[in-house]
Amino acid sequence: MISEFTSGKFSSIDTPFYFYDLDVLRSALETVRKESLHSGYKVHYALKANSNTRILKIISSYGLGADCVSWNEIAAALEAGFSSSGIVFAGVGKTDKDIEAALKAEISCFNCESIPEMEVINQIAGRLNKTAPIALRINPYIEAHTHKYITTGIEESKFGINTWELDDVLKKLVKMKNVNLIGLHFHVGSQISRMSVFKSLCSRINELQEWFASHSVPLSSINVGGGLGIDYENPEKKPLFEEYFSLLNEFITLRQGQTLHMEPGRSIIGQCGSLISRVLYVKNGSNTMFAIIDAGMTDLIRPALYQAHHKIENLTSRGHAYRYDVVGPVCESADTFGKYIELPETKRGDIIAIRSAGAYGEAMASRYNLRNLPGSVFSDDLR
Ligand code: LLP
Repeated sequence: MISEFTSGKFSSIDTPFYFYDLDVLRSALETVRKESLHSGYKVHYALKANSNTRILKIISSYGLGADCVSWNEIAAALEAGFSSSGIVFAGVGKTDKDIEAALKAEISCFNCESIPEMEVINQIAGRLNKTAPIALRINPYIEAHTHKYITTGIEESKFGINTWELDDVLKKLVKMKNVNLIGLHFHVGSQISRMSVFKSLCSRINELQEWFASHSVPLSSINVGGGLGIDYENPEKKPLFEEYFSLLNEFITLRQGQTLHMEPGRSIIGQCGSLISRVLYVKNGSNTMFAIIDAGMTDLIRPALYQAHHKIENLTSRGHAYRYDVVGPVCESADTFGKYIELPETKRGDIIAIRSAGAYGEAMASRYNLRNLPGSVFSDDLR
């Protein structure tokens, strides 16, 4: 909950901005650290969810590794104190420049998504006289039961290597002198709320492990990617880390000398962030009342892009409840945070919180309409 004390402080701050409750973040990190120590699984925080510098420094201080998708993310991770030996580099379209910089930084693993990519990494590593540690990102053909834009492991996905290509991959790998295959990588999608999806992934991984063992390919790293969802209806609810770790422990069969890696993003950072905004105008529509706020889809694109639901709260009014369409100022009808949302009587100047916005909020902000990027405010600074 955003306390009255905290929301009282918001009134003197320019909106819109992201408010990060660092106690919520630390509590998620404590749980992840505990589970990771207990299981021996290595956790790499997915920077794409939120790469705010202060947030990164806090996350790195818990000893996590990092999952990056560009050299800029790798550089930000290093700058924030993540060790290069805990950085993995994913992405279906890694550029030559990024590959070269990552090789020089000696990151721990390139998660490769295609044969052509492996060839380029091999060639660049050869030129630098290095050996690149790689994992094969395999498309496991598992339906994640989430929004289609964030489903990544089904047949038509652009991600990963198809299983029917694996024979060819092994043949080609034998000839590549500057890459060293260390493991397998998977990621079936994001905001996954059905635990059965992860169970299916575990079975698929076990099958693939058999296949690699039968081809005498040793693997030291099994990376299950990210995807653990959060409860957008209940911003106070913690993600199900314990259940997730114990499911992996129960259903994945690791072989001797193997380490399990994972790449959670949203589950670590999602519930600690809220987008804070002011009501500019309340106006009548034909069938609804609009609460027009000063935050827009440029600050939080998830509702416009994925029809995502974020809980909306009026932090400053206690009046009788009415229904509002809560919309932003951007010249797009998609710039709507919620339709027919029940709020206490809302008026100009009220402070609105859009909850569970710590992940893929600030990180996806844009300057469309030449709007300013949202700022960030941290609970520790308001005490
Ligand atoms: N690993 C890989 C290879 C990924 O592609 C992703 C996310 C993650 C890990 C982290 O997944 P997480 O634990 O956060 O689910 N913008 C979308 C989400 C895009 C996710 C992209 N990949 C959204 O706002 O829902």
